[in-house]
Amino acid sequence: MANRLQRMLRQQLQSFSMSGVTSFVNQAGASSTTFEAASTIDSMDRAPTRLDSKEVSELATPSEVSAVSSPSLKSSEDPSIQPVTSTKNSLNMPDKSAQLAVLKEKVATCTLCPDLAVTRTQTVFGTGDANAKIVFMGEAPGAQEDETGEPFVGRAGQLLTKIIEACTLSRSQVFILNTLKCRPPGNRNPTPEEVTHCRPYFDEQLAIIQPQYLVCLGAIAARSLLATDLAIGKLRGKFHNYNDIKVLATYHPAYLLRNPSAKKEVWLDMQFLMKDIGIPLPASKNP
Ligand code: URA
Repeated sequence: MANRLQRMLRQQLQSFSMSGVTSFVNQAGASSTTFEAASTIDSMDRAPTRLDSKEVSELATPSEVSAVSSPSLKSSEDPSIQPVTSTKNSLNMPDKSAQLAVLKEKVATCTLCPDLAVTRTQTVFGTGDANAKIVFMGEAPGAQEDETGEPFVGRAGQLLTKIIEACTLSRSQVFILNTLKCRPPGNRNPTPEEVTHCRPYFDEQLAIIQPQYLVCLGAIAARSLLATDLAIGKLRGKFHNYNDIKVLATYHPAYLLRNPSAKKEVWLDMQFLMKDIGIPLPASKNP
């Protein structure tokens, strides 16, 4: 039933999109929200921080998807929902979500890497806010991600969640994706050919989401994106540019699990990122 509703909703959105309707606004207006940092990066001892609704809206547009929560909803029938034709950079949730949903289905049937296509349980497309200002990009799904279809749900993923929350954000306010959409058997590193096959997918994800910031988690993501051989130690601490996205490279959470002393560098990178966004974070007492 839920699948059927999803399908109907997607078809509805596609037909809006094809007829030039690319977004909706709810005249009732967005509600005010506050967010509380739920936890910190392990060993980073600091007081919880609250973000006011303005700061939150700087980071992630509030979800307007409720405007299309009913599959039978037509903008012409509901006076509170007005169709808006999009202009540059004004795409919002329904349109971007629909585009990502279409791409996700394409990725799910990909067989460009025959080895991965036969060994994977499923592809792991990525998850989060289609309007996110920040994208986190990892390497490739591991066993638990392959099992669940969600990126970063294992131990490294739990640490990533803490990092995001230490930045006073939640996973649902950012978008999390991987360089590869399939699990390499035995968690080996992705081959250059596999990255080449997946590049159009992550490029299209970024083209749809249009984030302002992208955090490369680890060398595979950073090197794939920035076409460099440099180590994270050389790449971190400054912004790089990729298609007008400000790219920050930092250590992968799995590396941090093995080398906890590198957490302080990641925290410095996150402070640098959030300062540029306009939200300074409290200095860590115990990085
Ligand atoms: N490591 C990654 O790079 N991605 C995941 O999704 C999980 C672990």
